[in-house]
Amino acid sequence: MNRRAFLSWGTAGMVSLSSAVAVSMGAVARFLMPSVFYEPPQTFKIGKPGDYAFGVPTFLVDEKIFVFHDRDRGFSVASAVCTHLGCTVAHFQSDQKFHCPCHGSVFAADGSVVHGPAPKPLNWFEVILARDGQLQVDKDKIVPATYRLMV
Ligand code: FES
Repeated sequence: MNRRAFLSWGTAGMVSLSSAVAVSMGAVARFLMPSVFYEPPQTFKIGKPGDYAFGVPTFLVDEKIFVFHDRDRGFSVASAVCTHLGCTVAHFQSDQKFHCPCHGSVFAADGSVVHGPAPKPLNWFEVILARDGQLQVDKDKIVPATYRLMV
């Protein structure tokens, strides 16, 4: 091997080595910065009690909840997320039930399953009155369907 061929192979080797090190460093950097999916906060305020009419549930799209305001029994908050595959259910005043448009699950007024494929009842979330006078929902606190906040 003459000197010119030796230098040519040496240069090619250095380029290959540099590329391998760069790729490895990229992989290490990717490993050190894990993929994180940020969820919206699970505790949030939904306005004043007076913002909610009696009788008809209010659907909050972004939070995917129904807020019920009963004159005698107070506030309750139901999840609008179907327990089958997570579609958003609708509440029908005509039969007082929740209907899932995806696969036809029906939930009674208390969230229990009338017919599947949903395997579990709808969740009900704790709602409290915050110090500033607003209703505050905590989706991390599942409560019985009978839970009510009297204001
Ligand atoms: S997601 Fe509701 S029935 Fe399938």
